[in-house]
Amino acid sequence: MMRSTAGLVGALALAWMLAGCASATGRPDLVDAPPAGALVHPATWPAAASPSAITGPATEAMISDLIARMPLKQKIGQLIQADISAIKPADLATYPLGSILAGGNSGPYGNERADAATWARMVGEFRDASRKAGSGIPILFGVDAVHGHSNLPGATIFPHNIGLGATHDPQLAERVGAAAAAEIAGSGIEWTFAPTLAVPQDLRWGRSYEGFSADPALAAQMGAAMTLGLQGRLQSGAPVPGNHVAATAKHFIADGGTQDGRDQGDARIPEAELIAKHAQGYVSAIDSGALTVMASFSSWNGVKNHGNRGLLTDVLKQRMGFAGLVVGDWNGHGQVPGCSATDCPAAVNAGIDLLMAPDSWKGLFESTLAAARDGRIPTARIDDAVRRVLRVKAKLGLLGNAPVNRFDPAQVGAKAHLDLAREVVAKSLVLLKNNGGVLPLKPGAKVLVAGSGADNMAMQAGGWTVTWQGVDTTAADFPNGQTVGQAIAGAVRASGGQATVAADGSTMQRPDVAVVILGEKPYAEFEGDIANLAFQPGPDQEALVARLKAQGVPVVVVLLSGRPLFAGSLLNQADAFVAAWLPGTQGNGVADVLVAGLDGKPRRDFSGRLPFPWPDDARSPVTAPLFPLGYGLSYARPQAVGAVNADPRVVIDAQAAASIFMQRGKAPTPWHLTMDGAITSRAVDLGAQEDARQFSWSSPSALAVEGPAIDLTSALSIGKDLLIDWRIDRRGKGTLTLAMGGGRIALDPYLAASATGQAVQTRVPLRCLAASGAKFDAVGGPFRIEAPAGFTATLRSVTLVPGTSSPCPRAP
Ligand code: BGC
Ligand code: BGC
Repeated sequence: MMRSTAGLVGALALAWMLAGCASATGRPDLVDAPPAGALVHPATWPAAASPSAITGPATEAMISDLIARMPLKQKIGQLIQADISAIKPADLATYPLGSILAGGNSGPYGNERADAATWARMVGEFRDASRKAGSGIPILFGVDAVHGHSNLPGATIFPHNIGLGATHDPQLAERVGAAAAAEIAGSGIEWTFAPTLAVPQDLRWGRSYEGFSADPALAAQMGAAMTLGLQGRLQSGAPVPGNHVAATAKHFIADGGTQDGRDQGDARIPEAELIAKHAQGYVSAIDSGALTVMASFSSWNGVKNHGNRGLLTDVLKQRMGFAGLVVGDWNGHGQVPGCSATDCPAAVNAGIDLLMAPDSWKGLFESTLAAARDGRIPTARIDDAVRRVLRVKAKLGLLGNAPVNRFDPAQVGAKAHLDLAREVVAKSLVLLKNNGGVLPLKPGAKVLVAGSGADNMAMQAGGWTVTWQGVDTTAADFPNGQTVGQAIAGAVRASGGQATVAADGSTMQRPDVAVVILGEKPYAEFEGDIANLAFQPGPDQEALVARLKAQGVPVVVVLLSGRPLFAGSLLNQADAFVAAWLPGTQGNGVADVLVAGLDGKPRRDFSGRLPFPWPDDARSPVTAPLFPLGYGLSYARPQAVGAVNADPRVVIDAQAAASIFMQRGKAPTPWHLTMDGAITSRAVDLGAQEDARQFSWSSPSALAVEGPAIDLTSALSIGKDLLIDWRIDRRGKGTLTLAMGGGRIALDPYLAASATGQAVQTRVPLRCLAASGAKFDAVGGPFRIEAPAGFTATLRSVTLVPGTSSPCPRAP
């Protein structure tokens, strides 16, 4: 319970309990009991408390006065947050929303690469509009600045949290938080959706890198330090100063504990484990003053957290004394049973104070208002939610006549921040192997810098950089940054050596040593989920390392990745192996440790240690690690590493490759999509966020999935069907043709019963394709559609599935 205003919060909670909590049945007096597995016992949870400085008697009295005067419509507005891609400042006159966010793919005025002044102008326009609307309460503006002000080209991009975890240095995390805050605030923004307090257990989860560590204690220390850095220490009677911003402890709770590491999945664990592994970070973040907490998309024992009143209210707000606001995640309320993105009283009743409704805000506003009017959401609950939103606004100094000014564009990419990022990069590197002392690179050496990650800003920055998935970040976005390869080459030259950077390693003859920089392609939410932990650099990268070794060149492998990966044979081939995580834009930090200066010494020794156990094979979760959490060599502590296991002990992908040709509208490895300029595509939401792509034909053309020739004869003989999961948006004039393995059939008869504009699953038995002449022994193009001008379809997936022995329809 909050220390000084405990009475007040307690009284509100009591009033709400007396008013009764609405159930999905719509009867406030009937509470749906959650299944036993998702029932909480708050007394068994650790106690915590928002510091009393989070508010004060005068602030609470001011808020009470405001609430007493606010019409219901204004109150409901405070509970809803829209995304800049789907709302204009002028809309606030009619819909007095309380908050606006910019999601990972949303930039000011549609520009992903806007500068700080443009961000500030856009935020200012929303803020002014909100001040003029209704109660005159300014909006609260949030962004995902999750490793520095990561939406902004030119900002200081720090290593992702996994790299901070590798430093095992909370003080460093606090300094990073403060620097990031100065840059976020510097562009006129007061709130970041960070830090992630996930304690990832199964590293197949594509958000593993957003977590600091698999160790709950380390994650809790780092999370608290980051919170303090971002917000500063809350001071009684004073707002969060202009160079600090509100933090978000996310995602409550056990986002990193889901089964099979599935994003937005289900944590099937007992309450005691939920507490021991996944709750610790919230205790320290709340005690440190975190102003906001974000609910997790995921479930605990089958119950969506957005609808779990026991967790959000009884545990988080009561037992853990959290006095700030609970924000929902991106339409996360819509996943609660009985809810949709535009209608969800259950989430408010469970304890969400601010619903993140990026594109659904209008409908959600209307339906929430209706639910409040007819009592499906009790007044006391609404007033408590409004109070929490206003409390955060007050603490940020947004209310009143002299709001705190946060605009200071000179902070973005400031020299001191860049220097700090460089230091953090150096301290985040973990040396797994350094046989024969190949590192540091010696003064005067002739060095080849190669590999797909050698000169690749997108790979080293990772997801949540410039855009959501981070796939189109370029070096030009960060003129104040260096790619890891260029930084190493520069340092080698500075100590009298020669260096060449060539991704394919082709240009330099007989180098003294090669640094091969490999890694994962950038990814963020769910797109980064993988089937196993095998690192698959691709045949050309493997051949590159093998060729260098065959020439007798010592090889240093630098791995850019969002998680530890099984790389047994690579580790065996490499003389030295460095886990560099996702270091961000300051490649110089890597060079500081890997390259010796003219005096024969590098600027820094290795000090990073593993924040997660390193796998011995590709199976996950890791039970018997090759290197335990905490492992890390240094120049001062050398140690030879012998041969390691090179067997993944799982079947890598062969099965998936032979049955999944398209997923989420994309072709998964080893497949790729080919199409020409006649077809345009964009990511859309069919059933979930960006789970499909819409393809539009401007003239007759073909869309095809292509790749290595695979043998599908057994799929044919056991009677499999090709299943196309899609929505036809427009038919166009002419025939739609499906081709595979050299056979071609008209698809129209298969679509006869499907309505345009509705998601359908179209089944084409392989048998029917065989009848048209398809050969299945070496299929290099498992899916191809030829369509006329005007044809538009939204494709989710194309897979091979057990057949239904339905007849092959005939063209009419
Ligand atoms: C993510 C959050 C993020 C939010 C806003 C969600 O999809 O899960 O971590 O803060 O979007 O971009
Ligand atoms: C992300 C947003 C992103 C959006 C794109 C969400 O899940 O969190 O930041 O812009 O998806 O559809």
